[in-house]
Amino acid sequence: MPFSIAISGKGGTGKTTLVALILKELLREGKTPVLVIDADHDGNLAGVLGIKGGRTGGEVVEEMQRKVSDFPPGFSKDQWLEAKVAEVMVEERGYDFLSMGRGEGPGCYCYVNSVLRKIMDSVTRDYPYILMDNAAGMEHLSRRTTRNVDVLLVVSDHSMKGLESSKRIAELARELDLEIGRMGLIINRAPGEADQRLLKEVEASGLELYGVIPEDEEIRRYDLERRSLLELPDGNRAAEAVREVLERATKS
Ligand SMILES: Nc1ncnc2c1ncn2[C@@H]1O[C@H](COP(=O)(O)OP(=O)(O)OP(=O)(O)O)[C@@H](O)[C@H]1O
Ligand SMILES: [Mg+2]
Repeated sequence: MPFSIAISGKGGTGKTTLVALILKELLREGKTPVLVIDADHDGNLAGVLGIKGGRTGGEVVEEMQRKVSDFPPGFSKDQWLEAKVAEVMVEERGYDFLSMGRGEGPGCYCYVNSVLRKIMDSVTRDYPYILMDNAAGMEHLSRRTTRNVDVLLVVSDHSMKGLESSKRIAELARELDLEIGRMGLIINRAPGEADQRLLKEVEASGLELYGVIPEDEEIRRYDLERRSLLELPDGNRAAEAVREVLERATKS
């Protein structure tokens, strides 16, 4: 069974950035192939990883809906979709990438989600690691895709407000009785060390702190230059902090 890691958190806290850094670390350690899924309909993980091309799950579902009336008798939507997986999957060195995208019109999200789940179920056995980026907020927790993961990483910025929001996400995850192996908090964009007052609140929250990632000049610059975060040089401080997060997240 693959080891699956999903990320969650308030908008703009650095989920996508951290997914890219975790992937970078998994690649560095040779823990490949990784299946990387952008489950954010408005996601930009492909851009952050420097991936070009590839269709999204949403686009393929739309195409299917246009063509379904022409299917030969006995040919199911699932069969058609299965044949299309290859078009959605982008193969990169050490990892494959799948993007949900969006279907147009109401109701399409659900369908795209269930299709994604099917694709995941059919291909995931081949990967030792699955890494999933999610949209901001909590909606994804009720989707089948995040329902059973080995690790849910909850990302907060370096603020009390961010921490409150992470606590709500963690509470909801517990209430929904999801099959999540373990949950860990990441504080991202810390100004050097994390503030003691914030750390005290973390301790009181009962959330396990997996790591504190510093605000990083190189990440800011790569973003502005639209460079892939996979190209960050060895020794990048944020990437090293993510290494520790991954160690905690995957320790048995
Ligand atoms: N540790 C960091 N140091 C410097 N900049 C960072 C860091 N983490 C994230 N950023 C920057 O913060 C911005 C938001 O990050 P990112 O897109 O990863 O957040 P997100 O949580 O995925 O956002 P959304 O909720 O919109 O999906 C980006 O410009 C990114 O480059
Ligand atoms: Mg994002």
